[in-house]
Amino acid sequence: MNKKMMMLLTLICFLFVTVAAGIAEQKKGNEKKGKFMYRKTCRACHIDGGSAKALSPNSKTQAQWDRAFEKHERLECADEWKKLSDKDLEDILSYLYNHAFDSPSPATCE
Ligand code: HEC
Repeated sequence: MNKKMMMLLTLICFLFVTVAAGIAEQKKGNEKKGKFMYRKTCRACHIDGGSAKALSPNSKTQAQWDRAFEKHERLECADEWKKLSDKDLEDILSYLYNHAFDSPSPATCE
């Protein structure tokens, strides 16, 4: 194999890895714990027939979840969030974000 071919192959590999990493962007919190916490706390209200509208990971896009968490002090349920630690919230965001509407694996929380 000549040098040019090697360069080209390296470039293609590099591009592939970058694109793959971009598509599967994930939050690094513990999403298993996040799912548990979400179901235990948030879903007490955010469920069909509950006191707030039903929310699942796939109710929002990743960008919308990011925004909701950044600005959660403005939500009607901000007081509920205060009961959770930063770590809990990070885990919950990881769960919602990694299964958001535009994620590789969208999910409802059934
Ligand atoms: C005590 C009940 C209760 C709990 C617990 C609760 N919420 Fe809420 N939440 C509400 C109400 C009421 C509203 C405003 C009305 C609505 O959107 O249905 C709201 C609004 C929201 C909204 C804005 C509406 C939207 O669709 O963007 C988001 C996002 C949200 N809550 C997420 C959460 C998350 C995440 C948790 C857990 C950390 C949580 N809530 C816990 C009652 C609750």
